Amino acid sequence: MSYQIAIDGPAGAGKSTIAKKLAAKLGFVYVDTGAMYRAMALFCLRKGIAAEDEPAVVETVEKLKVIIAYENGVQQVFVDGENVSSQIRTAEVGDMTSRISTYLPVREKMVALQQSLAEVQNVIMDGRDIGTCVLPNADVKIYMTASVRVRAERRYKEYQEKGIPCTLESVEKDVEERDYRDMHRSHSPLRQADDAVLLDTSEMNIDEVVEAMAAIALEKGIVV
Ligand code: DC
Repeated sequence: MSYQIAIDGPAGAGKSTIAKKLAAKLGFVYVDTGAMYRAMALFCLRKGIAAEDEPAVVETVEKLKVIIAYENGVQQVFVDGENVSSQIRTAEVGDMTSRISTYLPVREKMVALQQSLAEVQNVIMDGRDIGTCVLPNADVKIYMTASVRVRAERRYKEYQEKGIPCTLESVEKDVEERDYRDMHRSHSPLRQADDAVLLDTSEMNIDEVVEAMAAIALEKGIVV
């Protein structure tokens, strides 16, 4: 039997930072589902496919062979044999991802892969639909959020550190648009599962959030 911890929430809530730390603390495997959708978006962009062209997006995604592997505990996404992990973190890929992840066949392919990963090992999985759709029976479900301003400030800082030109206002607008799209799509929109614990990280630092989550996990019988 394997344990499952599901973390959902909007972009910039701190899901991946926290999930990585908690996974290391618990000895669980961290599964970043956004990276899988991002890898699909990267390939659509490379082929010059418009996000609105659903048939072309679906045909492309259905043909791609996606493999998740771990190197020194860090998730790597391979598509048709190529490790694309370092190419999927741009704003352009993020925007394309939010658009193509609205298509049902794209979601079905990713969900099947995610479920197969969770069957064989203890996982902390983060995304938008983990508690509601991918792992409905997860042992722990967290819905992690933060105010739009705080999330935009975090993204802005990340981009500045990477030397990506932007303004706080443009990042905030992107965050709002992405939230809207992720929460209003017809297939498994982002929402808090009925049995998920809400964690607002606006006023918390990383260690405080990790501790809060470890305490929630402990309550469910997962011992750190
Ligand atoms: O978490 P992220 O920023 O890497 O996610 C990028 C996009 O992928 C996000 O805007 C919506 C989509 N996504 C999804 O639809 N379902 C998931 N489980 C994870 C991500």
